[in-house]
Amino acid sequence: MLAKTPPMGWNSWNTFANKVNEEIILGAVDALVEKGYKDAGYEYIVIDDCWSLKNRDKDGKLVPDPEKFPHGMKYVADYVHSKGLKFGIYSCAGVRTCAGYPGSYGHEYTDAKTFAEWGVDFLKYDFCFFPKSGDNKNAYLTMSMALKASGRKILFSACNWGTDEPWKWMRSVGVHMYRSTGDIYDNYKSFTDIIQSQEENFCMSAPGCFNDPDMLIVGMHGKGHVGEGCGYEGCTETEYESHFVRWCLCSAPLMIGGDIRNMSPFCEKLMQNKALIAINQDEEARPPYRVDATSFQWSPKEIFIKHLSNNRFAIAFFNHADSETECQIFFQEAGVPYYCGVTFDITDAISGEHIGVIDQDYFKASVPSHGCRIFTAEFAKR
Ligand code: GLA
Repeated sequence: MLAKTPPMGWNSWNTFANKVNEEIILGAVDALVEKGYKDAGYEYIVIDDCWSLKNRDKDGKLVPDPEKFPHGMKYVADYVHSKGLKFGIYSCAGVRTCAGYPGSYGHEYTDAKTFAEWGVDFLKYDFCFFPKSGDNKNAYLTMSMALKASGRKILFSACNWGTDEPWKWMRSVGVHMYRSTGDIYDNYKSFTDIIQSQEENFCMSAPGCFNDPDMLIVGMHGKGHVGEGCGYEGCTETEYESHFVRWCLCSAPLMIGGDIRNMSPFCEKLMQNKALIAINQDEEARPPYRVDATSFQWSPKEIFIKHLSNNRFAIAFFNHADSETECQIFFQEAGVPYYCGVTFDITDAISGEHIGVIDQDYFKASVPSHGCRIFTAEFAKR
């Protein structure tokens, strides 16, 4: 089964955009292996937009830009596979890609066949320049079928930015992950707006097909296309931690968008945190349940509990305020009232510190401004 758990990998767009080339891709492959990401579970290396020539060849096939990819795509795919990784590429449901390169509209089966011949394992499929006369759902269904008919197992990553409520139909047309929002930028407001907009839709994520709130910006620090390239200054380490934890909590695909060849030790460690990745990859893929939503007072905090497999839970606190604040969960809000005789044994998922069995009927922790705390919890006797 493809995408049994949220797909994990690296994508060229957020940092490199139209500057992508073979050297960058092979460098990212090496970094994914040598810097520990592969061992942590990241497996797809995806080339986003801007890899082809502006015109198809005389047979109607897409042609890699020989200046950017002098050895062609099969060579890149072979290199990716030789390192035990999987290779992803990008096209678009419209007549052109967002950056103006040829799209797959009317060429779906030719392009799927070409990708299969090159050894492609993952296709990101965008939505720019989609004809007004076209049918959104049918376009994704057609490419889904073309990939299935190509003779190769290819993970289908749809990207229509939430048009026509994709959470309602992408699973049924065979898609494995679908972008549900506009693009992410390297900025706190951008990622919090995106993830909050999908709170009610994550319940539609399950093995085989996941809501994709876009690629990670962790560690970009304003460098790269969705940072300074688009006028954004980047985030603090604390904000990147919130972003990564939130994506883990929502069973979102973890596609790194930063330059993994030069990542800060903090962000490298964060994106390889075993406990956080285990929460993201939990086989039940349940959405987080918001437990502070009944509060009569608006507060810049969000508190969630996520059910994990084997009677384990994740409890997460997010603080959007400008100063450090205390967040608290009453266990009765998580279905564990004081009189029931059980409580939680709690461990800090980021630091690994075992906090222990909680005697009270609540648990609280201090959360930095724009930061988060996340804990794993198991039942214990009171
Ligand atoms: C759209 C997508 C982005 C990226 C660019 C490429 O904006 O949403 O993720 O693929 O196109 O041009």
